[in-house]
Amino acid sequence: MTQTNRRFLLAKRPAGAVRRDDFTFETVPAQAPAEGQIQVRNLYLSLDPAMRGWMNEGKSYIPPVALGQVMRALGVGEVVASNHPDYKPGDHVSGALGVQDYFTGEPQGLHKIDPNLAPLPRYLSALGMTGMTAYFALLEVGQPKAGDTVVISGAAGAVGSIVGQIAKLKGCHVVGIAGGAQKCQYLKDELGFDGVIDYKAEDVLAGLKRECPKGVDVYFDNVGGEILDAVLTRINFKARIVICGAISQ
Ligand SMILES: NC(=O)c1ccc[n+]([C@@H]2O[C@H](COP(=O)([O-])OP(=O)(O)OC[C@H]3O[C@@H](n4cnc5c(N)ncnc54)[C@H](OP(=O)(O)O)[C@@H]3O)[C@@H](O)[C@H]2O)c1
Repeated sequence: MTQTNRRFLLAKRPAGAVRRDDFTFETVPAQAPAEGQIQVRNLYLSLDPAMRGWMNEGKSYIPPVALGQVMRALGVGEVVASNHPDYKPGDHVSGALGVQDYFTGEPQGLHKIDPNLAPLPRYLSALGMTGMTAYFALLEVGQPKAGDTVVISGAAGAVGSIVGQIAKLKGCHVVGIAGGAQKCQYLKDELGFDGVIDYKAEDVLAGLKRECPKGVDVYFDNVGGEILDAVLTRINFKARIVICGAISQ
């Protein structure tokens, strides 16, 4: 029986924030896999800030989503049909499966994942793109040492929350900047951050003076803008700054 594939296509390039009419929604029969292809039933999709960048025209680290194509999204799913020798029905994969029920195509760029090692959604967080970003950006670019003060903006987000936990494991004094009391409490009580600054309720510079009496040795920046400017005024000699994202811009 042919499965139904509900999917969102990029209809136009958004100006500013994304709107519903930037996308077309359609229901079509799911495509059967050709030679060398697999069909995957999507189980979980991730909504990442990077998706907004993929909608823009122009040179980037990855080609933009073409108009009329399925909106790119990272996901995890189960192989339901295969014409590829390395994949069989029942295998689980992660990768750019798209905002749709079924991905059909060659498996280049997909990774096999094991649901017995971790719950499937974790392959989109700590064990996925955002977790890898946190891990390699902090450890290779940030090079934290025990006793360093590490400040993270966007700290309660997918990347920031992992950065803070790794920095704690490395013996650092970890300070998170996030918006709202609930997120700040989560960072302190559940993730073990040493200090928090609620940028929506207090002056960031005053918060940095309070939480970082020895200045800042590693700044992991997810937001750019005014928060970056404030942290730079407290940065130490030979500090490392990880420019991961600039979501405020
Ligand atoms: N370089 C890479 O390879 C790479 C990979 C992944 C992600 N990134 C970048 O890393 C950043 C975080 O990604 P993520 O996946 O962790 O995102 P996320 O989980 O969606 O979290 C984003 C958070 O950013 C905060 N934010 C939004 N607008 C803001 C503003 N104007 N000022 C201050 N904070 C703001 C919000 O938290 P509050 O409620 O606390 O404001 C929001 O929840 C993004 O800039 C993304 O593009 C880069």
